[in-house]
Amino acid sequence: MDMQLTKSAGLRGELNIPGDKSISHRAIMFGALSDGTTEITNFLQGADCLSTISCFQAMGVPIENHTDRVLIRGVGLHGLRQPEQMLDVGNSGTTTRLISGILAGQSFTSTLNGDASIQKRPMKRIIDPLTQMGADISSLHNNGCAPLSIHGGQLHGIAYQSPVASAQVKSCVLLAGLYADGITSVTEPALSRNHTELMLSGFGAQVETNGLTAAVHPEPKLTGQKIAVPGDISSAAYWIAAALAVPDSELVLKNVGINPTRDGILRVVEAMGADVVREHIRTISGEPVCDLIVRSSSLHGVTVAGDLIPTLIDEIPVIAVLACFADGDTVIRDAQELKVKESNRIDTVVDGLRAMGADAVATDDGMIIHGGKTLHGAVIDSHLDHRIAMSFAVAGLMCEEPTTIRNADSVVISYPDFYESLEKISVR
Ligand code: S3P
Repeated sequence: MDMQLTKSAGLRGELNIPGDKSISHRAIMFGALSDGTTEITNFLQGADCLSTISCFQAMGVPIENHTDRVLIRGVGLHGLRQPEQMLDVGNSGTTTRLISGILAGQSFTSTLNGDASIQKRPMKRIIDPLTQMGADISSLHNNGCAPLSIHGGQLHGIAYQSPVASAQVKSCVLLAGLYADGITSVTEPALSRNHTELMLSGFGAQVETNGLTAAVHPEPKLTGQKIAVPGDISSAAYWIAAALAVPDSELVLKNVGINPTRDGILRVVEAMGADVVREHIRTISGEPVCDLIVRSSSLHGVTVAGDLIPTLIDEIPVIAVLACFADGDTVIRDAQELKVKESNRIDTVVDGLRAMGADAVATDDGMIIHGGKTLHGAVIDSHLDHRIAMSFAVAGLMCEEPTTIRNADSVVISYPDFYESLEKISVR
């Protein structure tokens, strides 16, 4: 599907932000492994999270998806059944990596695979630690990618030094650690999102965190919970950027998760001079949440680097778009992980911005954007990457000529109602 965007006369109103993707995945997984029922509200009905549901259903977990409410009758840590077919993870890296940690601890063999993008994403980063724990896991095409075959068995606790700041790697190892014969810890080079640590302890696991290290004790009894999923700051990011860039805008974004391991976008736009107010700060299911009020602002370029990167890794495409409308240079460094997301986001972002007339240069670990050039409408392929589709839709709101997003329906991965929400807040 193609989608056409035209210059916006302003964005106004209020939006409820859909449930957090990372938290929605984890709520299904931990609910499935619990004793008793888990009830999830504001679950993200995105294709990635639906892949997680279908994988656990394929392993015998009763899950009812009533849209507004998801009910899971947990089967316990040892109650999963061997799937009859290959597990289909779709486009979801989170499903692939987290489920692999769980499968490594089962007493059956399973295989999993996903779409063309998943088959290019690096899995050696989880194969290595799971193998160290004693799992028998292999890449069926011997290229370090899915399809993966996982022969579960008795695992050993390890103290793993992760070479990447990745919550997917950390979570994979910690989940395998639930099945190990001793404590399992993961130390990362910079702190990645900590939803697994927070939610696992809410379900009754013994989780210890100390700086860059998180550890789990084996064989806890997980107990079903009621989880209200906070709105996804990664989805709110498009409206934050759009409201800041489009003149005469004022948006209220309700129920946005502001976990400090995820709120880097707020810190960056504040450093750029943005008018963003956090209201009604509260805690929902152990996660900090607020309402955001965002108004059009004049912005200046900043440097985005170092420990900040994991806290905004998925927001870099839209931060790059925003940087085009700021005065001066924005330098994004230490973000080589962008190359192994749903697309190579250094290339897809810089190529798209240049097609719109921006002065953007790709670097080895990020990009440099010389802000202040007027962008013009263009035809932009999403490369089947949801975050590329939405980021360039935002860019299109600032161009005199129309912008066409090719494969625009890729937004279904994380924000199925994205275009409807844009329609709702667009001033006519
Ligand atoms: C996620 C972690 C991040 C992020 C992804 C979701 C998670 O990936 O990019 O969209 O839910 O743990 P990495 O952990 O690989 O950086």
